[in-house]
Formats: sequence, C-alpha cells, structure tokens
Amino acid sequence: MEEKVSRKQKSDIYILGIESSCDETAAAVVKNGRQILSNVISSQIALHTLYGGVVPEIASRKHIEKINQVIEKALLDAGCSLEDLDAVAVTYGPGLVGALLVGVAEAKAICYARDIPLVGVHHIEGHISANYIEHQELQPPFLCLVASGGHSHLVRVEDYGVYEIIGMTHDDAAGEAFDKVARAIGLGYPGGPKVDALAKEGDAEAIPFPRGKIEGAPYDFSFSGLKSAVLNYINQCHMKGVEPNRADIAASFQQAVIDVLVERTMLAAHNYHIDKVAIAGGVAANSSLQRAMQQSCEEQGKIFFHPSPIFCTDNAAMIGVAGYYEYIKGTRHGLDLNAVPNLKIGQR
Ligand code: KG4
Ligand code: ZN
Repeated sequence: MEEKVSRKQKSDIYILGIESSCDETAAAVVKNGRQILSNVISSQIALHTLYGGVVPEIASRKHIEKINQVIEKALLDAGCSLEDLDAVAVTYGPGLVGALLVGVAEAKAICYARDIPLVGVHHIEGHISANYIEHQELQPPFLCLVASGGHSHLVRVEDYGVYEIIGMTHDDAAGEAFDKVARAIGLGYPGGPKVDALAKEGDAEAIPFPRGKIEGAPYDFSFSGLKSAVLNYINQCHMKGVEPNRADIAASFQQAVIDVLVERTMLAAHNYHIDKVAIAGGVAANSSLQRAMQQSCEEQGKIFFHPSPIFCTDNAAMIGVAGYYEYIKGTRHGLDLNAVPNLKIGQR
C-alpha cells in the first residue's frame, strides 16, 4: 500500500468520482483527468428486475448499504487512500432524488473530513466525458449523441464543460423505449441489452415501424409513436390469433431507433460543420448502433468515437473525468450542495 501511495507525484491530481443517480452505486479514482486507476460498480439490476423497473425507495436504501464498501474498494484498487485525493466529484443531478442524495452526502462528508474541494457533476456531462477515457486524443469541439434511459440529447461540446443542446426528445428517451418494448415482448428489465441480444436473431426489415419526425425541429426525437406502433402490432397479431415473432419485433424496433438516432446526428454534424462525432449513455452500448454510426461517419468523412460498454452505462469513472475538467477550471461547490433531480446541462 505504502509503495503504491508513493507513486503519486506532487503534480498529479487524483479525483474520487461518485455516482448514485439511479440503480448503480459506483466509485472510481481518476488520475490527471483521463487515467482510470479504479472503477467499481455495484449494480442493483438483479434487485429491481423483480419489480420490472427501478423502485426509487429500494434504490436509495441499497445505495446507503453499498456506498462505503464501493468507495473503499475504489481506493484499494487504485492503491491510494483518502489522503491522496485532491477533490471529490459527485453526480448531483439529474436522477432520483433519494438516490442522488446518498452520493452527495457521502461526497460532502469526505470533503469536510479531508478539507478538500467538492465538485458537483451533471450526470449527462459525465456520460459525454466517458469518451475521453479511451480516446486520449479526443478534444472538444465535437458532437455527442447522448442516449440513455432518461435522456436523448444531441449536444455540441464546444469546450470542456461548455455545452450547447442542439436536439432532444419530445417524449420518451431512447433507452426508455427499449425498456418499454422489452416489457411488451416479455423480455423484462433492463430492456436494452435484452432487445439488443434478441434482435440479432430477427429480421430488421420484417416490420416497417415508423421513424418519428418532429415538424420544424430536424434534430429532435420522438419515440412514443414507435413504442405505440410496437404495442399495436402485438395487439393485431393477438387479434388475428398469430403469435408475434419477438425476434423480428426486437430487430425491426431497434433498427427504427438506430435509423432515427443516426440520421439526426449526421444531419447535425453536417449542418454545424462538426468533424468529430461521439455517442454516450446506456444505449451507446448497443453494437448495432455503434456499427451504423461508424459506417455513416466513414461515408461522410467524420471521425467516430464511442466508449466501451462498461463506460456507456452508469459508472463513476466518467464522473471523475468530468469532475477533473471542472476542478481545473475552478468549479467548487459548497457543503450546502443539494441533489437536483431535474438539473439542466450546463447549470452549475
Ligand atoms: O446511461 P444508463 O446506464 O442510465 C441512465 O442514465 O439512464 O442507461 C440505461 C439505459 C436503459 O434504458 C437500458 O435499457 C439502455 O440504457 N441500454 C441499452 C443497451 N444497454 C443499456 N439500450 C440498447 N442496447 C444496449 N445494449
Ligand atoms: Zn446514465
């Protein structure tokens, strides 16, 4: 332990990232912004599967149970101790208020005890920053499609911590649509990975599901019509006495989502003259989406970036990375920092 601690140079900046906005309790130690010394995630998925979705009260209780263990392990894996930390970065929104509060309270306690800075991080800015981890060469400006369980945003990353929202969903988020369709075809929670797997056995052109467009908003999304179309299709099958082909539904639905995400992203990249395109958030773990984006980027001469699946879904390494860039800019939060369930991107 002592030997590892002595590896920290005076000029090194160690940030402890903490994430507890939904159903993952996570902690990570990030060195100098882009080197992940540890990345510990305690997932509650198995627990919430019983209920078909995240139960906020259960999530908060589980975070309380796990958070100290997760942080201890993150420090141990990184070979450092609380004394080595320069700051703590924590997700303070958006998310489930009770869940967020656990991470925020923990971060404040550590910062108070160690007398080190507290940096509050926006969850989506964390997702975007996940792209910096495995692409050391990636620098703003770039365009990022953020598609998760709660968000579908097209974001122009102008500089570190400087964002412009170009497009957003008018109803369901892309991940939410995956989760709802998964439930409709009996796959259970969490839907994304299960639809992704089943789609590989189906025909993506079997059912012509709609590609929702918003009049006058070329970069915005709408997935509720698509979700209803899937439900209607299943009902019609049942009324005709035919068993719906679940693999074809999964593949055709997934293709409809991907077509829309890729088309809007590439249109924005073209019109805003942005040559680097990234994706982030849980849905970015979808291998067919990655392939489709890669192909479109190649065709249009853009450079494509995506995180590995472990950095797409919720984790604390991304929070540590986003927190580092805020920390070096001088962003500091007081010990009165509160959880903000509907925090806006760019709000400090
Ligand atoms: O980013 P994330 O872990 O949590 C939020 O911030 O919401 O995203 C979770 C969402 C869920 O809706 C999940 O079904 C979806 O991401 N997801 C996927 C895949 N893996 C996770 N969607 C499509 N394909 C996947 N492989
Ligand atoms: Zn997330």
